[in-house]
Amino acid sequence: MDRHLSLSQAARLIGVKRTDIQKKIQENKLIVMEGTVVLSDLKKVFPEAHYEDNTMLEKMEKFMQEAVHKMTQSEREGAQLNSLSQRIVKVNNELAQERNRVEQMETFIDGMKQKFIELSLYNNPEKSFNEIKQWFNEHLNEQYNNELSTHSERLEYQIKQFMQPHIKLLPSQHHYISEPKESILESALRSGLAVNYGCNNGQCGQCKARLLSGEIEKTRHQDYVFSASEKNQNYILTCSNTAMSDLILETEEAVSVEDIPLQTIIAKVKKINQNNPDIIILTLKTPRSQRLRFLAGQHIEISLTDHTDDDQLPLKENYSIASCPCDASNVEFHIPVNKKNPFTDAIMHTIKINDNITLNGPVGSFVLDEESPNSLIFVAWNSGFAAIKSLIEHAMSLNHAPNIHFYWMTTKTENHYLDNLCRSWNDALDNFTYSPILCEEKTNIITDSFMQNLHNDHNHLLNIDLYIATPKQLNQHFKTLLTSQGIKEQNMHFENIFHEDNSNLD
Ligand code: FES
Repeated sequence: MDRHLSLSQAARLIGVKRTDIQKKIQENKLIVMEGTVVLSDLKKVFPEAHYEDNTMLEKMEKFMQEAVHKMTQSEREGAQLNSLSQRIVKVNNELAQERNRVEQMETFIDGMKQKFIELSLYNNPEKSFNEIKQWFNEHLNEQYNNELSTHSERLEYQIKQFMQPHIKLLPSQHHYISEPKESILESALRSGLAVNYGCNNGQCGQCKARLLSGEIEKTRHQDYVFSASEKNQNYILTCSNTAMSDLILETEEAVSVEDIPLQTIIAKVKKINQNNPDIIILTLKTPRSQRLRFLAGQHIEISLTDHTDDDQLPLKENYSIASCPCDASNVEFHIPVNKKNPFTDAIMHTIKINDNITLNGPVGSFVLDEESPNSLIFVAWNSGFAAIKSLIEHAMSLNHAPNIHFYWMTTKTENHYLDNLCRSWNDALDNFTYSPILCEEKTNIITDSFMQNLHNDHNHLLNIDLYIATPKQLNQHFKTLLTSQGIKEQNMHFENIFHEDNSNLD
């Protein structure tokens, strides 16, 4: 049977930080259930980790289970303390061996530290890496080669991580780590930064940045031609180069919705999921050479070019983008089912995987205030979760807020259509709380229910920013109520949700 581990146990077991495991969970690479992960999943996600280290832990647990079992038997058959004490002696011996091994490893690590001090004088990561690799080979003697070879591989991996280039952007002071083989642009986007770019293939020049320090390497041909002045100032294309050392770059980043251009992109249908009768989750893939630039929380017009209405015009509707800008090639939407709407009908019955769909936009100012140091409170009603999901994922990729609390309000349990995702965030992240709330679809009941939860969960309403995505009429009530509680206008952000039948609300 597969073994379940708490995040702390898992982190200890594979020798990584708890936050590394949380990151994999955020990226949906690792599933968390009631705060635990499954060992076989962990092995797939961290294949380089040395699980054999855990034999002691495994043995102790097995021993304890057997001991408990034996004790129960001993109550029936008489005490078998002899067997128990033999087991304790065996475990003690194993413990002594493990201690011995740890001491040897400490000596080895001391030597390695010394080597690092020497290598810090070099300014060449590749040379340093090769030297340390050679050093490992020389210092792992015959006796420990088998045992330590896996340690060596793991250390190699950790050193690689340590030595990955760190990139700093000016004037924003944002910084991020570049993964091997990633372009400078790709790693910035993965880190949630809204840097300028266009074609992503070396043609438009929109991703250009001034290289102030560090080494880069060209990864692809570029058609864009720099002017003499740009060349003199050391401009580079971030989509066509990778970092070979720590870099400092001067570049433009989108800081407000005005910095995001309106775009028309023909995307392909990647997935259509309906795990709830009332919501369709549509995922579109943008062309590699034309990723969608948007800020988390914005919405966009989706046009079904090949499907027309009675006036022969393409069917089109506006929807909030439900995904994070850190994955600009996969764009997600949550579409409430409305059988009377020909657009929804086409999505449900006619549109197929790989069909073309045109995106026009993005628009909207329901975006994260990245300058604010406050904790974040998110509130969604039904499919208002789409915009909130985008904001939460973006805040997570930026490691933005001290604390995040998400209240998802709806009338019935199944309308929490991505409940598992929210629970996995809640389980995996120390600073994230998820509160699903069920209540009747009546304005005063919804607002009272939220305020009651808010006051129960938070001692005061200072230093918080609220992001609320509910129907327009509900947003107005929330605004009045929160203002009366002393929340300032600049700390409240509202999005009117689309396409839901909220006729019961006044
Ligand atoms: S994004 Fe167009 S040249 Fe880099």
